[in-house]
Amino acid sequence: MQNSEVFILAIESSCDDTAAAVLHNDKVLSNVVANQLIHAQYGGVVPELASRAHQQNIVPVIDAALRQANISKEQLSAIAFTQGPGLMGSLLVGSSFAKSMALALGIPLVSVNHMHAHILAHFIDEEGFEKPNFPFLALTISGGHTQIVQVNDFFDMTIIGETTDDAVGEAFDKSAKILGLPYPGGPLVDKLAQLGNPKAFAFTKPKVPGLNFSFSGLKTAILYFVQKKKLENPNFIAENINDICASIQYTIVEILMDKLKLAVKETGINQIAIGGGVSANSGIRTAIKDTEQKYGWKTFVPKFEYTTDNAAMIGIVGYQKFLSQQFETAAVVSKARIQF
Ligand code: KG4
Ligand code: ZN
Repeated sequence: MQNSEVFILAIESSCDDTAAAVLHNDKVLSNVVANQLIHAQYGGVVPELASRAHQQNIVPVIDAALRQANISKEQLSAIAFTQGPGLMGSLLVGSSFAKSMALALGIPLVSVNHMHAHILAHFIDEEGFEKPNFPFLALTISGGHTQIVQVNDFFDMTIIGETTDDAVGEAFDKSAKILGLPYPGGPLVDKLAQLGNPKAFAFTKPKVPGLNFSFSGLKTAILYFVQKKKLENPNFIAENINDICASIQYTIVEILMDKLKLAVKETGINQIAIGGGVSANSGIRTAIKDTEQKYGWKTFVPKFEYTTDNAAMIGIVGYQKFLSQQFETAAVVSKARIQF
């Protein structure tokens, strides 16, 4: 179906960000995110508090998205929402709201897989950003996932590698916690890493066969390393924080790049798109871009606001599903885990 006047309201509430966006076809008119600061004091996302905060945030966030887009509810073509994966209590807030609003307005309801959205965010029409051609490989790296996906078409994609334990974002966040940095530690590790020497300390890379990843061993190695060094010098962390962060980041980037190189070799596909919160990492961005010169890969790095959780990425999938008339009834259920 071709329709040049499609307006999608998209809602994302899978974890600890309440987000809403309005898209006009594949262009983003507004993209609003309310971060939940409450979790920082607990060192991680508290599911019960997340769903409560979503309930408080959802109306003002959707209202702001519609106002910023200068669109009235009556102009909307469909409502898209995140079906999963995510925290059940959080997902339910977004899906219940989306269902009620679609019913009230008498417009279609579209469900979106959050991980598809991190990948398809590359298809948002954004000045200065090229869209990948099919097939391409997507490296989705976030606080909940670490996957290499072969993307053959909008809705034809296969996971060819994934983590067997922690996600890469957890590796960043847990390492940061060991160093006494506040949650979420990933962005802070990145910031400090840029001031340090990446070769100052060596951490062993895990030996995982094929295209799968493992990060729990690295976290343990960092913990033992820090404990041992603190016995020798109680101020070890404070005196070496930049070098420690740079070395951790260097190791994580190496782990990701080793597997990507193998994936390119095995599939023969050298178009690479990255997505997910960790694709905001400066080390990964540089390493990915460097492969264009080094190996002749073509790489796609999303606009910063589409890397961490946002609703614009839900909206672009909603738009594609709207075009192919993939709609849901109000009986659709949220799923904490969802078939890829
Ligand atoms: O995609 P996202 O916003 O939420 C999930 O779906 O998980 O990803 C959040 C994760 C957190 O682990 C956070 O620490 C990490 O992305 N992150 C980063 C950076 N920015 C966000 N990790 C490393 N470097 C960054 N610059
Ligand atoms: Zn995400």
